[in-house]
Order: sequence, then structure tokens, then C-alpha cells
Amino acid sequence: MSNTIRIAIAADHGGYDLKEEIKTFTFDNLDIEWIDLGTHSTESVDYPEYGYKIAEIIKKKDADRGIAICGTGIGISIAANRDPYIRSAVCTNADMARLAREHNDANILALGARIIDRETAVACVETFLTTEFEGGRHERRVNKLSGGAHGT
Ligand code: RB5
Repeated sequence: MSNTIRIAIAADHGGYDLKEEIKTFTFDNLDIEWIDLGTHSTESVDYPEYGYKIAEIIKKKDADRGIAICGTGIGISIAANRDPYIRSAVCTNADMARLAREHNDANILALGARIIDRETAVACVETFLTTEFEGGRHERRVNKLSGGAHGT
């Protein structure tokens, strides 16, 4: 059985350019499968649609982790986090991305295209996709986030 990680990526118009760059500069260098949920241009769209889309695909377990991008990372993250299965973390550097995985078992990394540069975004994505959850004391805390068993 393949252990290849499956990634979903989504963005609004504010995150479109960074989404395309992440596909080129990150995904093409990693052993992953990925699906692009849009948007597919810089034409104005509403970020909640894309936050809900990425949350749904992760909840259905059709993808293991998600990368969600809007202007700040905030709006799309709020939308995704409305589902209790989702733990979306807005990160502005690779340390945050590492801790979001190690301590929070974040299943979505949210990025702000107006906030961070491409190099930082690529570092966040690479760290997020290659860092495992530490478990232990963090498991108990993460369980409390969704009011039930972690990961179900
Ligand atoms: C869209 O203009 C902008 O509001 C959106 O990309 C995001 O920053 C929302 O949180």
C-alpha cells in the first residue's frame, strides 16, 4: 500500500498566485499526490466557499492535509474551522507550521498571500507536510478541541 500523502490546496482570488507558486515550488519536489480545489484565476470569489470545500474533502478523508490561502489566511481558515473535524492553523513562519503539526495536529495550513513572501510560504508548506504530530500530552488537548476522539 502506498503511504504517499494526499494534499488538497484551495485559495480565493487573493491567494491564487501563491497557490500556483506553491504547486510549482513545493509540490513538484515532494512525494505527494495533490488536488487543486480552485479558484483558478484572479477573478473575485468568496473565501468561505473555498474554506468549506477544503474542509469537506479532508473530513471525507479524500485528502490527508490541506493548504488554504487567502489574502491574510484568516478568512479561509475561519471558514474551514467551522467544521469540528478541522484544525486549520494560520502560520506566518516555519516554526509555527512545525508546532501546528507537533502540538495541534493541524490538518490545514492557512497562509496569507498579502502577509508572507513566497520563500516563507514554501518553507511553511514543506515543514507542515513533513512534520508529524507528537501525540502524548498533546493528544488529550487535541481531543478536547472536537469534543470527542481525536481524528474521528
Ligand atoms: C479578499 O479581498 C480578502 O478579504 C480575503 O482574501 C482574505 O484576506 C480574507 O480573510
